Amino acid sequence: MDSDVSIPQGLPEKIPVHIAIIMDGNGRWAQARNLPRIAGHRAGTENLRRIIEACIEFGISYLTIYAFSTENWGRPQDEVQGLLHILEDVIDRELQELHDQGVQLHHIGRLERLAPHLREKVLHAVDLTRGNQRLVLNVAFNYGGRDEIVHAIQEMIKDGVQAADVTDEMVSKYLFTAGIPDPDLIIRTSGELRISNFMIWQGAYAEWYFPPVYWPDFDKEQLRLAIHEFSQRERRYGRVSSPVVDIEPNG
Ligand code: IPE
Ligand code: IPE
Ligand code: MG
Repeated sequence: MDSDVSIPQGLPEKIPVHIAIIMDGNGRWAQARNLPRIAGHRAGTENLRRIIEACIEFGISYLTIYAFSTENWGRPQDEVQGLLHILEDVIDRELQELHDQGVQLHHIGRLERLAPHLREKVLHAVDLTRGNQRLVLNVAFNYGGRDEIVHAIQEMIKDGVQAADVTDEMVSKYLFTAGIPDPDLIIRTSGELRISNFMIWQGAYAEWYFPPVYWPDFDKEQLRLAIHEFSQRERRYGRVSSPVVDIEPNG
């Protein structure tokens, strides 16, 4: 293949603080190779390692990855079991290295439905890496945006929060992402153009990017491209372009 001269080098000045990724297309990646879907999930996991390293190199502070949705329980049982097994395997094999690299692990979503031993492994990983500062990695596993909001409302009611005290800030504090800034850039691979219940609150003003590749093929250079694209976007948050030129009514 000819080298693509359009891929920018280096990094722009303005980079996202928080990147979130909907890692989609593992199944189709495998299907295109006549492999079982689970082989695609394994390839996707290998790719995740590379993207974590790229995020560290690029100086990204927060990375959130959508690994398993509340709706993914509806997949065939062998695929669900395979995905649970991959989570366990990744913790067993990669935790020490992630820790050594300064990655702070967080889980977002519900742990309740996971087997007790797997739940313990996740909690141990979070506890071990608590003090790390290089990259915060939020793993969305058994995560759903609606479920997260339902959970937040339940917790507010349990805490006796009064209706008049409910604000944007308070809701944010009750989400699984409490204390984590909203994502600046959300990437969804595979060409699908939908949110699929991901960070529906936090993504209110995120910039979206949809690279037309399956997740196992989304590499460091494509991440660089996404960051360059992000740097070109103007985030207006409902306002107008700055600098604002005020026109005097009679001037
Ligand atoms: C994303 O890949 C990974 C998970 C949802 C766990 P998919 O498994 O959704 O892959 P496609 O969309 O079927 O290709
Ligand atoms: C979203 O992808 C969930 C994850 C990537 C973990 P899906 O493949 O499950 O979403 P839909 O079904 O295409 O909307
Ligand atoms: Mg999919």
